[in-house]
Amino acid sequence: MKIFVLHGPNLNLLGTREPEVYGSLSLDDINNKLIELGDELGAEVKCLQSNHEGALIDALHDARKWADGVVFNPGGYTHTSVALRDAISAIQIPVIEVHLSNVYAREEFRHASMISAVCKGKIAGLGWKSYALALRALAEG
Ligand code: DQA
Repeated sequence: MKIFVLHGPNLNLLGTREPEVYGSLSLDDINNKLIELGDELGAEVKCLQSNHEGALIDALHDARKWADGVVFNPGGYTHTSVALRDAISAIQIPVIEVHLSNVYAREEFRHASMISAVCKGKIAGLGWKSYALALRALAEG
């Protein structure tokens, strides 16, 4: 079982970026926790972050060749990107949308997601545990 954890724009700044919203863990801290959890669940976890929409699309296309599932936090592209939605539809492997913050308790523009309808599920508002729960759901099938 191979799981791809994909992080979108600005998530490289976790730890210092609005910690009251996104928590104090860095991206490396989160990735390490997920790799550790993957070991416990018998899943190999590969992580990638990009600030670029096209690079995220390329990574999703590539995942089609090797991943059994994707945990994806598209950051701000969640609310805008038809191209990411199309990429998720095209790859035909389960993708779970995750957000650190509770997007529904924030500005109205964050309530809309371009990708939710083409994802297997969605988890928001639980900090890094949003990722952990998504990983567990994919690993346990
Ligand atoms: C986010 C929520 C988005 O609205 C925001 O643009 C982000 C992070 C989250 O994890 O809570 O960059 O995806």
